[in-house]
Amino acid sequence: MPSLTQTPTWKSLVSHCAAIQNFDLREAFNLNPRRFEQFSLQFNDILFDYSKNLITEDTRSLLVDLATHSALSSKIEAMFTGEKINHTEQRAVLHTALRNRSNHPVMVDGVDVMSNINQVLAKMRVFTDKVRNEQWLGQTGKPVKDIVNIGIGGSNLGPKMVATALTPYASDKLNVHFVSNVDQTDLVETLKPLNAETTLFIVASKMFNTQETMTNAHSARNWFLEQINDEKAIGKHFVAISTHPENVIEFGIDPENIFEFWDWVGGRYSLWSSIGLSIALQVGMDNFEQLLQGAHEADLHFRDTPFDRNIPVIMGLLGIWYNNFYGAESHAILPYDQSLRYFCEFLQQSDMESNGKSIDREGQPVDYSTGPIIWGQPGTNGQHAFYQLIHQGTKLIPCDFLAPANSHYHLPKHHDILISNFLAQPEALMHGRSAEEVIAELPEQDRNNAILVASKVFEGNKPSNSFLFDKLTPKTLGSLIAFYEHKIFVQGAIWNINSFDQMGVELGKVLAKVILPELLNDETIGSHDCSTNGLINAYKKLRKA
Ligand code: F6P
Repeated sequence: MPSLTQTPTWKSLVSHCAAIQNFDLREAFNLNPRRFEQFSLQFNDILFDYSKNLITEDTRSLLVDLATHSALSSKIEAMFTGEKINHTEQRAVLHTALRNRSNHPVMVDGVDVMSNINQVLAKMRVFTDKVRNEQWLGQTGKPVKDIVNIGIGGSNLGPKMVATALTPYASDKLNVHFVSNVDQTDLVETLKPLNAETTLFIVASKMFNTQETMTNAHSARNWFLEQINDEKAIGKHFVAISTHPENVIEFGIDPENIFEFWDWVGGRYSLWSSIGLSIALQVGMDNFEQLLQGAHEADLHFRDTPFDRNIPVIMGLLGIWYNNFYGAESHAILPYDQSLRYFCEFLQQSDMESNGKSIDREGQPVDYSTGPIIWGQPGTNGQHAFYQLIHQGTKLIPCDFLAPANSHYHLPKHHDILISNFLAQPEALMHGRSAEEVIAELPEQDRNNAILVASKVFEGNKPSNSFLFDKLTPKTLGSLIAFYEHKIFVQGAIWNINSFDQMGVELGKVLAKVILPELLNDETIGSHDCSTNGLINAYKKLRKA
């Protein structure tokens, strides 16, 4: 197999990129009043407009060729049908089965996983109904008021993002909290206003041996027992979600209170599994299933739609276009919806843990750039923080803008103001403002001020995608998340990397385990490099002070 960069399709893209160096989006829109129709797609209530990208019809077809020649179709099928595409860990990758509402069999090692999935969903329904209907009572006979999800990475970010996004659907009898950081501030400040009698802890961890989660879970247990001095009460106040029930039982949680999932669910793709229990408790199981339904419909679109009309494929290809042919290093996620305030944080793990790789599937170093840096925050806040750099800085930053046409709330004016900004920013990025336009707008006396004119010029020609959807419902959110997951898959498939392991997080964990015992004695440490030794010894001095 030639390296990706030596393939004819890649070389055609290199030549094409050179040939359209002077491509100008303003001109493209002026010349083609149908550009929006040509480069936009509708999926249910989601409009995906990608017309403000540095592309022509030829670019799209060359990118689609790249996907075709990368055997993307067969790779998609391999994922959906349970092949062990996470080859370094010999695991299937089946978050799509978790939301397979059609219930068609999905086989792993000759076993249909759908029946296990449905059993766990049924167990989640019974449990969430009981808690939400105040039938699940704590040790002192009181219903649950506060739920604390203790988990980190995929066992935190997905549930926290979705539970926050779906707040308008939340029960007003329950407060859901998320604790992830081993920094005690997180746990202490979360627990401060809570009462053990009415608190339910969910310990969420795929492996159930993650240092941060186990430390937080033990401290939560101590906090609980300080208030309710009865080990038997744990059964009514602690539940666990894990693929390792033996570790849960060892921790002391009642086996009845274990919600299972499986090793073919990656941590960062796990919100669709029982890891989503906190979401289901917050919004109810019907809404959780709507979330699954939205993702399932996006899965069908991804699996069955030709690449040139396939939203996640186009998203993935556009990312590759800027990442590999324009040298863009990052990608901004800019939701004009405060409910999506953790969307970017969630995608940072999904994308960067998946595609932050520098060897290909054969173990060879790649000679091309892989996963982008994902960053961003909701508009309009970001406009008053970092948009300056996107508009007038020296870096090319492709952006995704997302917004609902309808808010869940009804204050006058707010939503139209929000949406006017959602529409204006991509327009400004694309259109820019020329020196002639600046001069025409300046008062007479400033028109010869060359410095002022230069500082007010916006280069424009900056690419973005826009997603406009009806309302942030559970179903629409499910579809949006699934689109991003599949975008990551498309890029990993074309870059020929394993998007489903995360070996890069290991080394730091191993070294922390070496350092921890060194912090617990009074000796001067000299076994590391002089910087690490210096920091350890300074910490020990400061800590004593
Ligand atoms: O950051 C590494 C990682 O393994 C993630 O992939 C995972 O989501 C997170 O740690 C938490 O793992 P667990 O759910 O097993 O506690």
